[in-house]
Amino acid sequence: MTFDFETNQETKHMKKIMLFLFLLGAINIYSQKFNNLALTPPMGWNSWNKIGCNVDEKTIRDIADAMVSSGMKDCGYRYIVIDDCWHDSIRDAQGFIRANPARFPSGIKALADYVHSKGLKFGIYSDAGNHTCGGKLGSRGHEYQDALTYARWGVDYLKYDWCQCDDLNAKGAYTTIRDALYSAGRPIVLSICEWGNNKPWEWAAGIGHLWRTTGDIFNCFDCQKKYGTWSAWGVLKIIDMQEQYRKYAGPDHWNDPDMLEVGNGMPANEDRAHFSIWCMSAAPLISGNDLSRMSKETLEILTNKEVIAIDQDSLGIQGFRQSKIDSIEVWYKPLKNGDWALCFLNRGSKPVNLEYDWKKQVIKDDVAKLELKYDLKPYTIRDLWAKKVIGSTDKVLKTYLPSHDVLMVRLLK
Ligand code: GLA
Repeated sequence: MTFDFETNQETKHMKKIMLFLFLLGAINIYSQKFNNLALTPPMGWNSWNKIGCNVDEKTIRDIADAMVSSGMKDCGYRYIVIDDCWHDSIRDAQGFIRANPARFPSGIKALADYVHSKGLKFGIYSDAGNHTCGGKLGSRGHEYQDALTYARWGVDYLKYDWCQCDDLNAKGAYTTIRDALYSAGRPIVLSICEWGNNKPWEWAAGIGHLWRTTGDIFNCFDCQKKYGTWSAWGVLKIIDMQEQYRKYAGPDHWNDPDMLEVGNGMPANEDRAHFSIWCMSAAPLISGNDLSRMSKETLEILTNKEVIAIDQDSLGIQGFRQSKIDSIEVWYKPLKNGDWALCFLNRGSKPVNLEYDWKKQVIKDDVAKLELKYDLKPYTIRDLWAKKVIGSTDKVLKTYLPSHDVLMVRLLK
């Protein structure tokens, strides 16, 4: 028998290359985000804005109950998300994360089961660093273990924060948790929360389903709240910071201007303006108030289905500020069926008598590549807060717009 040494070596070499290519392919297949979990902006509730670190299982259950009984679930709100501070102070002997036993005596799995039994989805919070912003245990070095734990508990949504991460590469850190979630096998929405520090709009579409574009929201219409090295921002400040990133957002990858402050203390007109602009911006609608004790006005704002429909429109285009007339901003958002949403926002401290001559307007959306031509045919104007038709675009619009309030309409084609 002759032995062809060279051919044999070549075959071995080829086999190694094939194995390498196979593994590379396998890594590609198994490292991705769970697609199509957020084809419209996620809707739900998160504990942070109202109760901060004061989370416990009874409160979360009450909120889940209120989400259903208030009618919010019927409007599309789904996720009940526990933000920071649910954690125990140490991991178990194998390094698995646990909940604070005094605050969550029945455990997170039982709580997730309860939330699911209401037809809702359950979310949780962690951080890419060693510690969360509230000083609890972060996921650094435990990403795969934590992802496995969340999958076992029945988590559907993970908000992943960015405190204590100065020496980390953001894209790398968020890719690690994405891969960990994927390998744990349970579809989980990944909410990236690094405040826009590392331009997530440029790299996160294949990693998460939404990314924060700004620092934290503060419960005021137009203020800056300074906390030493960082600031939180009022509604107007936030919209000014995030509008420029609209071209990066779309179905399954949304710009996130932070959670809602509706019902947390601003007057109803400011809450209405806040909610309207979030909907014009195709922003995630994560309420942050006490759902079990809502005023009539708060409930009316959070459950206005016609306004929510603008946010949830399947075309998924983030609206834009088309023009400014003194203190009034004019926002447009194209919609799937050919209608347009339009919102006049009075940022000023005085009411305004507005006159808007439709025929003089040229509306071009460079991102959606759409144009609105009023001279081709008139649109019927439906006021989405008054819930009635108020005219047509063949006549100049004359309206009174109070300070810090909106006229939000749908132009029916
Ligand atoms: C950061 C986030 C907030 C909240 C807190 C919790 O500030 O941006 O939304 O999650 O941490 O500590």
